[in-house]
Amino acid sequence: MKIPSDYVSYSFLSQLSFSDTILNASADFQFVLDRDRLALLSTRTRQQSPVFVDFSDRAFKRRLAAGLQGQLLGKALGLKTLRAPNVLDATAGLGTDSFLMANAGCLVTAIERSSAIFALLEDGLRRAVQPGVANEASSWVASRIEIRREDFLVADLSDKTYDVVYLDPMFPAFRRKASSRKEMTMLQEIVSEDQCESALLSLALQCAKRRVVVKRNRRSPDLAGAKPTFKLQGSKSRFDVYCC
Ligand SMILES: C[S@@+](CC[C@H](N)C(=O)[O-])C[C@H]1O[C@@H](n2cnc3c(N)ncnc32)[C@H](O)[C@@H]1O
Repeated sequence: MKIPSDYVSYSFLSQLSFSDTILNASADFQFVLDRDRLALLSTRTRQQSPVFVDFSDRAFKRRLAAGLQGQLLGKALGLKTLRAPNVLDATAGLGTDSFLMANAGCLVTAIERSSAIFALLEDGLRRAVQPGVANEASSWVASRIEIRREDFLVADLSDKTYDVVYLDPMFPAFRRKASSRKEMTMLQEIVSEDQCESALLSLALQCAKRRVVVKRNRRSPDLAGAKPTFKLQGSKSRFDVYCC
């Protein structure tokens, strides 16, 4: 892994350890600076463009403007009744869902266990509040997200602290197709496989006061075989809601 020298002050460097997935895959990925953005590049597939987090992307801004009211995620979170819930996004990834939830008024704690993915997320949030680059709205949204580089399964969390715990795990058997977005393709390549479905769900239920929301592929079976209270089916994905 090559890390640009002007990035050395970033906090993630001190957090990298030899057990980290990015080091295991060191020959395949490279951090690059792409116009002030930290980006991850696959060195195996040269055609693939760098992956970075950009909350000011035009298409993403349209999603933000549409809001979550009336959307499946908003319904799954119960935004009509739970106004401004505090949400634990226990599998934060590149933070898309965290940002959408914070934009809808949620206070979000976002946990990501991969140092490489966390670094991209941290950098995206840094730019979302950067004076002269960010606007007031994105700074407000970013200020509602607290990020933690941790494994949810071993994190120090108190019971019933969050109104909602949100899970969007990636399991080998149900991984998204190769045709999915480049961000997802890279996530699939970087993150280690996770088989702890029942541990994830039972810990989530322990931490949630009101509900656990699980994002699944449309045809995936229920997480850990546990029947949700209700399901919200979309064209590609679905949200399974477990009320506490
Ligand atoms: C499908 S991605 C999440 C995408 C995310 N919802 C978004 O909007 O960008 C799954 C992420 O969960 C992370 N993850 C999986 N198990 C985890 C755990 N036990 N603790 C923290 N993060 C975990 C993976 O590293 C990966 O980045």
